[in-house]
Amino acid sequence: MKYFIGNWKMFGVPKSINILKKINFFHLKDRNRNKYKIIITPPYTLLETFSKYFKNKKILVGSQNCYQKDHFSSNTAAVSAYMIKSVGAKYTLVGHSDNRSEGDTNEMLKNKVIFALKNNLKVIFCIGENKIEKRSKKTFSVLKNQIIKVLEKKFNKDNIIVAYEPIWSIGTGKIPTKNELKKTILRIKKILKQIYKKKSPAVLYGGSVDGNSVKIFKDIREIDGFLIGGASKSSKKFIDIIKNYYR
Ligand code: 13P
Repeated sequence: MKYFIGNWKMFGVPKSINILKKINFFHLKDRNRNKYKIIITPPYTLLETFSKYFKNKKILVGSQNCYQKDHFSSNTAAVSAYMIKSVGAKYTLVGHSDNRSEGDTNEMLKNKVIFALKNNLKVIFCIGENKIEKRSKKTFSVLKNQIIKVLEKKFNKDNIIVAYEPIWSIGTGKIPTKNELKKTILRIKKILKQIYKKKSPAVLYGGSVDGNSVKIFKDIREIDGFLIGGASKSSKKFIDIIKNYYR
């Protein structure tokens, strides 16, 4: 199973559901539709309406983050996995670099994963090195650390997806070379296999994925799907990624 996940970030109002209706319509008639899942992570404000609308349809809905405490608390603006689940979402991102850079620590991320899984949300756990770490050849040690500090073997690996997003590639149009990316994905899977008894959770790639770059990525069979930012805000761009992947 492959995954095409659209992360809307700070984008979208109620009428933006029209973008998803078009994507859903495409999916309905796509002959490859059984080979992949589509997940969209809109802002919190749209989780309930989108989850309800797509309840019996093919688009799955997730949140972009969740708070590191369960149920209810007295933290202003915080939203827990319990609250997210209660409005019908099925997934949550955890550890996006946007949130790591705003202060999410490994300890906080681990609690987010724990409470997301406890509340039956599947977790899309994001990892990735920055430009300086890449230049100083620290990519693998950074990724390994991000994984082992948060993902425990007691977690159900079937409810975890790992998304590798090199920070220098997000929104920049810069992408890793085919060889480099294949090597990195294999290294990530190797670390995950050590934790999860030889079976790795799905590992996705994210960072400047569009209809063009996907033509390069599709040759790397080890990639289980994509986490798409900018191009997920347009139905045409998002559909082009899926079309070109299976072309
Ligand atoms: P872009 O696809 O815009 O580079 O964003 C990637 C991303 O951060 C998705 O979470």
